[in-house]
Amino acid sequence: MLLVEATWKEIESHLATSRAIVMPIGSVEQHGPMGLLGTDAMCAEIIARRAGELGDFLVGPTLSLGMAQSHLAFPGTISLKPSTLMAVVQDVVASLSNSGFRHIVFLNGHGGNIATVTTAFGEIHAHRSLQQDPENLNLVLKSWFDLPGIRKLLAEIYPSGHGSHATPSEIAITQHAFPHAVKQVALDPQTAPDGGFSDAHDFRRRYPDGRKGANSSLAKPEDGARLTEAAAQALVQEMAKYAKA
Ligand code: NI
Repeated sequence: MLLVEATWKEIESHLATSRAIVMPIGSVEQHGPMGLLGTDAMCAEIIARRAGELGDFLVGPTLSLGMAQSHLAFPGTISLKPSTLMAVVQDVVASLSNSGFRHIVFLNGHGGNIATVTTAFGEIHAHRSLQQDPENLNLVLKSWFDLPGIRKLLAEIYPSGHGSHATPSEIAITQHAFPHAVKQVALDPQTAPDGGFSDAHDFRRRYPDGRKGANSSLAKPEDGARLTEAAAQALVQEMAKYAKA
């Protein structure tokens, strides 16, 4: 069930049987010449919604904006500062726990969110510990590509050219879900360089078309379908741990 398509009465009834919710979280940032700006938010939302159809748990609204500072030298990128994203996560968790949710699972689509969201969880737990709040609050961050079995599947579908940004896997997932928005663009070089970076300008200097280590042209909608299904099933398994109210 999608939280935004439910009434407060339905949520109240649901909380009597389950106190778990999935919150998709992504980013709006450049994803190379082929990848959509919304890729990370879309992937998290597509997988969470599919998992919500397969399993009996709530899926909340997607937090589409994330911490994307390193992509700000490319037009269209919209980034929250780490401090802003932490405040957003803290307010979302406070609202959900105020409603009675006790297992809040953020399904993440963007590696750049991990450090900030983890730190936000630390702030929340520190505050609760200092208040001596005895009630358990389980905060979980899972990136879809780190769900059980997914790294293995990625290695199988993409023996080379997966890379770490504007990857063919994330692009394939959006191609399957949004066929009208598929872009066919010649890539030069076919596989982008990989390595480190500091800030947004350094990122653009090192990775001029925005890709990092990826051959985005390996993306195929049918692989996107397979990855969506596998990740959704893995998320259903994860949510089974939190099924009891
Ligand atoms: Ni991405």
